[in-house]
Amino acid sequence: MTETFEKDVTGSILSIAGQLGIDPAAGPDARRMFRDALGQFATGVTIMTCCRPNGATAGVTVNSFNSLSLDPPLILWSIASTSTYFGCFQPGDPFAVNVLSGDQQALALHFAKSAPDKFQGIATHPGLDGVPLLDGCVAYLECATEARYPGGDHEIIVGRVRRIFNVGRRPLLFHGGNFHGLANTA
Ligand SMILES: Cc1cc2nc3c(=O)[nH]c(=O)nc-3n(C[C@H](O)[C@H](O)[C@H](O)COP(=O)(O)O)c2cc1C
Repeated sequence: MTETFEKDVTGSILSIAGQLGIDPAAGPDARRMFRDALGQFATGVTIMTCCRPNGATAGVTVNSFNSLSLDPPLILWSIASTSTYFGCFQPGDPFAVNVLSGDQQALALHFAKSAPDKFQGIATHPGLDGVPLLDGCVAYLECATEARYPGGDHEIIVGRVRRIFNVGRRPLLFHGGNFHGLANTA
């Protein structure tokens, strides 16, 4: 496919395929367009679970998860400073990455809403250090927080992976603000 790049007199790109370049910090409309552009990056969906210092369980739906390092085994994700659980996941704390399967969209929405006890009626089994593992996931990564780094209105959490389970179901996907299943390519 030949892309159409429009340039100004200095040769600097003005538009690509008719879309003007936008400064994401230019105002509310530009911020929404920034979100929309980020949403073009298709991801899987996870729920990060942990135990709070008072022993209560905590869980938050997250799609900022990514792989970081094979040796040592590290992963990363980011937590919003507005999350109820921003104070959890401190260095050394155990947590689990629950990678959601295609039939767990309702669970993803459930754990994306603030609630006093998100685990009521949810099937779990205790993993390392009692961290809940959600039944029916594609894969599980049991971690301990290695480090936290500032990242604007989020903080980046690096986790060291202690144990994995790869169940191998079909995953839940997130793209353009909507959930999807994996297309059957067979
Ligand atoms: C698909 C999806 C992905 C999300 N990814 C993140 C994320 O990476 N980091 C984050 O802090 N919140 C993310 N959220 C939002 C949180 O799930 C939600 O704001 C949070 O759980 C709200 O409740 P809390 O105060 O109990 O954390 C995501 C929500 C959805 C639906």
